[in-house]
Amino acid sequence: MSVKIAPSLLSANFGRLQEEVQTIIRAGADLVHIDIMDGHFVPNLTIGPDVVAAIRPYSQVPFDVHLMIENPDAFIMRFIEAGADVVTVHAEACRHLHRTIQLAKKGGVKVGVALNPATPLQAVQEIVGDLDLLLIMSVNPGFGGQSFINKSLGKIQRARQMLAEFNPAAELEVDGGINQENASDIVRAGASILAVGSAIFAAKDPDMAVKQFKSLVSI
Ligand code: DX5
Ligand code: ZN
Repeated sequence: MSVKIAPSLLSANFGRLQEEVQTIIRAGADLVHIDIMDGHFVPNLTIGPDVVAAIRPYSQVPFDVHLMIENPDAFIMRFIEAGADVVTVHAEACRHLHRTIQLAKKGGVKVGVALNPATPLQAVQEIVGDLDLLLIMSVNPGFGGQSFINKSLGKIQRARQMLAEFNPAAELEVDGGINQENASDIVRAGASILAVGSAIFAAKDPDMAVKQFKSLVSI
């Protein structure tokens, strides 16, 4: 099984995003993970669709856009137009999650749903068959560089069982606190995509870090 590495630009140098994107792609990144924060759903702000569109021409791999925003319905189409290939919304931010998923599907992208550490898997039980991706947050969203919440490993295993039963084709992405020490355990628990921020972009050599992650997860 080949597990995908999705470097998260949150920890990149925002003054040279083009070069940062090109570096991780040359090193073998499978996806570019882009964290969108609105200062409401999470206590931090990042970038909007215009910045996503500006860097899209520099990537030959899909853009994995993680929306940590309230009322994602209002912005999903903007991110699709900006070049998102996968759009992930938070179950906690959607009053009508089924409707939001259908809206993103209409836009022709792959659709993911993310769950915060305190949100049970049952929150997606009824719609899991509609998803292309389930994202398990292994930190509370908002910031890079936090420690992996160890209890997430059990949740990842249970998420893998849920997908095996109801949607075996869907990806299982894990996001937050992933490093070279815990990556193998997370893959063994069932993850198929690792979103990695600081362990790649805060490393001395991000190119080398991507290559290390790629070899760690290639079984
Ligand atoms: C956190 C973001 C993550 C973040 C992960 O809210 O969703 O994608 O960049 O960063 P690390 O890998 O440093 O925990
Ligand atoms: Zn993320």
